[in-house]
Amino acid sequence: MRVRVLGTAAGGGLPQWNCACPGCEAARSGPGARTQDCLAISADGDNWYLVNAGPDLRSQLLATPELAPGPGRRQTPLRGALLTSAELDHTGGLLGLREATEFTVYATDCVLDALPLRGVLDPYGGVRWSGLGRAPLALAGGLVATAVALGRKKPRYAVGAPDADDWVVAYRFTDPSGRALVYAPCVAAWTPALSAAISGADCALLDGSFFSDDEMTEQTGGGPTSRSMGHLPIRDTLPYRAEHPDTRWWYTHLNNTNPAAHPDSPQRQAVLRAGAEIASDGMCIDL
Ligand code: MLT
Ligand code: MN
Ligand code: ZN
Repeated sequence: MRVRVLGTAAGGGLPQWNCACPGCEAARSGPGARTQDCLAISADGDNWYLVNAGPDLRSQLLATPELAPGPGRRQTPLRGALLTSAELDHTGGLLGLREATEFTVYATDCVLDALPLRGVLDPYGGVRWSGLGRAPLALAGGLVATAVALGRKKPRYAVGAPDADDWVVAYRFTDPSGRALVYAPCVAAWTPALSAAISGADCALLDGSFFSDDEMTEQTGGGPTSRSMGHLPIRDTLPYRAEHPDTRWWYTHLNNTNPAAHPDSPQRQAVLRAGAEIASDGMCIDL
């Protein structure tokens, strides 16, 4: 299995266009910028799938040699995308896929039903939509994806849509050799199902939106708590790391307020001391 971490920021990216918090200012004037959450994954190195398709997708694809088209003039190794939610930072890039001729977007039924971009894309003809059940989904190249329902949080634009347990999901990916990776960029609660998915996995990429629950207020002077936004802060999930000692443990989907995004912060040191890591844009994971 080969994985390319295309983007590691939460919605807004780092820096966020309208934010002058200490983290955004540091990323504006030096290194440390991050694009919005996206993963590319392949079991055989030839057939690739995106996980999420955020607003930064075009620049992410252009920066990733494995995803370049060819050798045919209109041949692409990208077969499809799997969505972990309907949030705009996970779906805003779908518009940029309108040139596709054969591309499947997989998501839970409630997410597919809510996506406003679906009706916009359909007349272009190349994107198919496929609902995900709880059964493992066999993909090209030997990749298998199993969705794990993680939360009921709907995007603000879909607040009137029906409730469901799987507005937010994680994925457990496996390849034919049994290697496994869990991708869970939005974790509202640490459930037995999530813990079971991580058990035996070679690595996990987990919700690192916020380091602490009141971080938004600390850094910007106001705003909701991490938990109220459907994100357990790193401080609260780090203790679970010890239950999965053989799983390499990364945090991703970092909000621009998260001090752990910055290598010299005490929060980053706390992550490292617990045996976890912070993912970075462009990072490659070979399993
Ligand atoms: C989230 O992760 O909580 C959402 O993506 C927030 C947003 O970008 O609107
Ligand atoms: Mn998000
Ligand atoms: Zn900021």
